[in-house]
Amino acid sequence: MNYIKQSAIREGKSKILYSTQSPEYIIQFFKDDATAFNALKKGTIKNKGPINNQVSSSLFKYLEKNAIKTHFVKQLSSREMLVTKLEIIPVEVVIRNRAAGSICKRLAIEKGELFQPELIEFFYKSDALGDPLIGESHILHFKWATLEELNKMVTTTRKVNRLLIDIFNEIGLELIDFKLEFGRDTNGVIILADEFTADGCRLWDRKTGESMDKDRFRQDLGHVDEAYLEVSKRLQNYFEARA
Ligand code: TMP
Ligand code: ASP
Repeated sequence: MNYIKQSAIREGKSKILYSTQSPEYIIQFFKDDATAFNALKKGTIKNKGPINNQVSSSLFKYLEKNAIKTHFVKQLSSREMLVTKLEIIPVEVVIRNRAAGSICKRLAIEKGELFQPELIEFFYKSDALGDPLIGESHILHFKWATLEELNKMVTTTRKVNRLLIDIFNEIGLELIDFKLEFGRDTNGVIILADEFTADGCRLWDRKTGESMDKDRFRQDLGHVDEAYLEVSKRLQNYFEARA
C-alpha cells in the first residue's frame, strides 16, 4: 500500500507527525530544526532531517531483529518514515553509562564518571514545564504508566543500551547516554517510539574524546553537521558490511 501524508497531527521541535489514510499508521517527517535547553536555543543543522531518518531507521531495524518491538515500519523518503500509531506515554527514559549533561550540574558530578550499573532516570514529557525529572512513584500516581509497563520500559532501555553500546563501539564511538520514548499499541503492548539519533544521545569519539552529537550544537563546538554526517556514514558502513 502507498501511504500518503494527510493532515499534520503534531509539530514537535525536530519532527512533524502526519496522519495517513490508515488509522493504524502515521508518518514522521524529520526537520533540520534543532533546539536545546528546552528550546531556549534554536537553529538548524544542515541535512539533519535525512541523516536522522536514516540513522533511526537503520537502528530501529537492527533493534527489531534483536527482538525489540519498535514503531518503525519503513522509510518512505529521505525525510519520511512510516510508523505505527501509538498512544505515547509522557515519560522520557534516560539511561547513563557515564556522567554528562544535566546530571553533572544537578548532582555536582564530574563529567565522564562511569556508572556501573548504568543509571536510569525519568523525565516528564512536558515542554511547558521543561521536562522535569520525576521518580517512579510520580509515574504510577499520575497513571502515566502501570508498574508492569514501567518495568517493560526499563528492561527494554537496558537491552537497547547493551545492543547499541556494542555497535557504536565497533564504529569507534562510546555511547554515553540516551533518551527513549515509548507508546502503547491498540493491544496495550509497550512499543519503542520516537527516534534514536544524535539529537537524543551522547556519543564520544573513542580516539579523540570529541562529542559527535547534539552537544556540538548545545555548546557551540562547531562542525555540527559534519559530526552528524560522520556518525551516519560510520553506521551505514557498519550495516552495509553485514547486510
Ligand atoms: P540530559 O543530560 O540533558 O539530562 O540528557 C540526557 C540524554 O538524554 C542526552 O543524550 C539527551 C537526551 N535527552 C533528550 O534528547 N531530550 C530530553 O528531553 C532529555 C531530558 C534528554
Ligand atoms: N531536546 C530538548 C530541547 O529542545 C533538550 C536538549 O536537547 O537539550 O530543548
